[in-house]
Amino acid sequence: MCGIIGIVGKAPVAERLVESLKRLEYRGYDSAGVAGVVGSGVERRRAKGKIKALEEVLTAEPLTATTGIGHTRWATHGAPNVANAHPHSAGRVTLVHNGIIENFAELKAELAAAGRTFESDTDTEVIAHLIDAELATGLAPIDAFKATLDRLTGAYALAVLIEGAENLVLGARRGSPLVVGEGQGEMFLGSDALAVGPFTNRVIYLDEGDYVALDHDGARIFDASGAAVTRPVRVVPTSAVMMEKGNYRHFMEKEIHDQPEGCQRTIAAYVDALTSRTAIPGDVDWAKLERIQIVACGTSYIAGVVGKYLIEQLADLPVDVEIASEFRYRQPALRPGALVVAMSQSGETADTLAALRYCKAKGMKSAVVVNATESTMAREVDVVWPIHCGPEIGVASTKAFTAQVSVLTAIAVAAAKARGTIDAAEEQRLVKVLLEAPRLIAEAIHLEGAIKEIAADVAKARDVLYLGRGPMSALALEGALKLKEISYIHAEGYAAGELKHGPIALVDDKTPIVILAPHDSWFEKSASNMSEVMARGGQVIFITDTEGVKHAPEGAKVVVTAPASDPLVSTLVMSAPIQLLAYHVAVIKGADVDQPRNLAKSVTVE
Ligand code: AGP
Repeated sequence: MCGIIGIVGKAPVAERLVESLKRLEYRGYDSAGVAGVVGSGVERRRAKGKIKALEEVLTAEPLTATTGIGHTRWATHGAPNVANAHPHSAGRVTLVHNGIIENFAELKAELAAAGRTFESDTDTEVIAHLIDAELATGLAPIDAFKATLDRLTGAYALAVLIEGAENLVLGARRGSPLVVGEGQGEMFLGSDALAVGPFTNRVIYLDEGDYVALDHDGARIFDASGAAVTRPVRVVPTSAVMMEKGNYRHFMEKEIHDQPEGCQRTIAAYVDALTSRTAIPGDVDWAKLERIQIVACGTSYIAGVVGKYLIEQLADLPVDVEIASEFRYRQPALRPGALVVAMSQSGETADTLAALRYCKAKGMKSAVVVNATESTMAREVDVVWPIHCGPEIGVASTKAFTAQVSVLTAIAVAAAKARGTIDAAEEQRLVKVLLEAPRLIAEAIHLEGAIKEIAADVAKARDVLYLGRGPMSALALEGALKLKEISYIHAEGYAAGELKHGPIALVDDKTPIVILAPHDSWFEKSASNMSEVMARGGQVIFITDTEGVKHAPEGAKVVVTAPASDPLVSTLVMSAPIQLLAYHVAVIKGADVDQPRNLAKSVTVE
């Protein structure tokens, strides 16, 4: 996802634009650029690749502007090169954009027919031409901007400069997040609170369809209808500590190690530790609820699958979990008596947001399990269930995953108590089990040394299989996804029982097979799967616990022993080994762990 920054400053902004873009690197990008109002013109500086390349351009050609914009681009239309890098200019207008304009081709044809020429393949440049054309009719900048926004179909977050207007940055959002930062006589515009975090913690979250004119005196905000509105100023705790790597090499490493704390803070928000009872925020009637429909993508989807196992087992409450990008296009048979739960770290994933809105339109009550509590999803649902693990910067989700699972685990216990499938004593026992999980996660993270040794072998593999049963079949998917997305090694996660229905054909003495098998009710079957695999030369990495290791078949290439845990929290405990394995394999392979190729932290395009 692209990153945006804009500053109406009192002092030169080039360095601050670059500083902000560095805070946005985690979103993933392939080019970067800045622009500033200089005298009666606007100057641009752009570069392909990382921000370091842009800094070199700025060193060679300093930008003296005190009002400017900046952008990190994650290519959607047009190759990642300088010509397609933002900012884009047309006539008096220079701007940056995050999102996709779906009707840009017809708009471009109309502009070309009017004699306009284009220097890039992007949809963004079309917006600059449209605003410039409206300005040419004599409209004031804010009116030319609004007239243009009314013609766009699709998603956008925009920051716009007008030639000669040193005291003005225009901004707008629809489908892509954008915030205003309030400074001392300076104003900021950014993709999220992290972008403006170096300059202010006073943040205004623009609503869907809002547009804004920033100048030294403040922000004039308008809603989609063009009416002037005010939006609340929030003081945002994006403390620098939470965003720095500390003494870790990568954000992902730090975030894996942050999990005990992140889960502890999250669990504390969903239970009453004094009485060992659950305390789920929001007004969901679990006793009467007929069904839960979870919609999500990627790792958040996998967290939902784990939740399904726990909620159905404990509360006898039907749960469907679906990939958001498929869900709404298959015309699902929905009923108003169900609760839709979006799972999303960012709260901005376009596929998940669209699926959520589809369910809301069908009359379903809506909730979101989310890290970014001011995100679009958080502001559109009936019930917000925050995870409290702090900003997750590494593109590969780790601490958000276990925090999401923690929330669904607490919900499983609460729903079970409300539906009478467990009694008060069992609720108290399970809440105590959940409260112990952070300590067990910390113990599992101490396996890092053993995991690093295994990583050396796995790093040589061409393919890796992950197998598990029950919730471990979901964790097998997560282990495979983690390895794929940061080390670029092909990996598949399977329900272990599926092995004999095809994947066992893949097994040879070169394929590491990671089998996730805590000592639970599925253990014996997982152990027999292990024997099947070893009989065909498979190199088994058996991840079990201190109870399972007593019963594990002989012959595994390596056995990793996690702390024993109640089945309620075994997924939380077994997550760290697979996260650490993926991390250390990626480090050995020299991959860009925090910003893997082609990936973005939050995918706000469908
Ligand atoms: C997970 O490691 C990936 N970064 C990706 O699958 C991610 O979980 C997915 O894009 C969903 O993002 P969200 O949780 O912000 O909606």
